[in-house]
Amino acid sequence: MQQKITMSEELFIPADADKKERYETLLPQLAALIEDETDLIANLANISAALRETFGWWWVGFYLVKNNELVLGPFQGPIACTRIKFGKGVCGTVWKEAKSLLVPDVNAFSGHIACSSSSVAEIVVPVFDKQGQVVGVLDVDSERYDVLDETDVVYLEKISKLITETLSV
Ligand code: SME
Repeated sequence: MQQKITMSEELFIPADADKKERYETLLPQLAALIEDETDLIANLANISAALRETFGWWWVGFYLVKNNELVLGPFQGPIACTRIKFGKGVCGTVWKEAKSLLVPDVNAFSGHIACSSSSVAEIVVPVFDKQGQVVGVLDVDSERYDVLDETDVVYLEKISKLITETLSV
């Protein structure tokens, strides 16, 4: 007998919803999508895709701490820098300081790493393991100055917490 494959991975995003409503609708769907899956890469890949589908950002994805460097992980958008050192760029700074950074204008951030000249604003939030160590970062890039704000930081941190909950350690 042929096995039935159920596709529950279809996002529902209300068309006329504002940013907060979009996140509020997205969060439980993300939780449901990743809660029964233990593979980190699979979960980060789906979260990247869901965020890009919901908000249409220029680039969204993850860098993961590997051998004392950040290495490019699952993402959606144009090709990007593959390795970032501790304390370098927005991502490396977030890793070092273990707290989120909202960069409304990347030209004003000394040491910003320009993976793409189209990206003008950026948010990076840390992803922690259950011991509170940074294991990666979630990076969002926009080609517009007026898109990313504190509301995104609040909700991206909630998404980061969801990821921590799915980690085995
Ligand atoms: N701009 C980031 C590098 C990663 S890319 O934007 C995808 C930084 O300064 O860390």
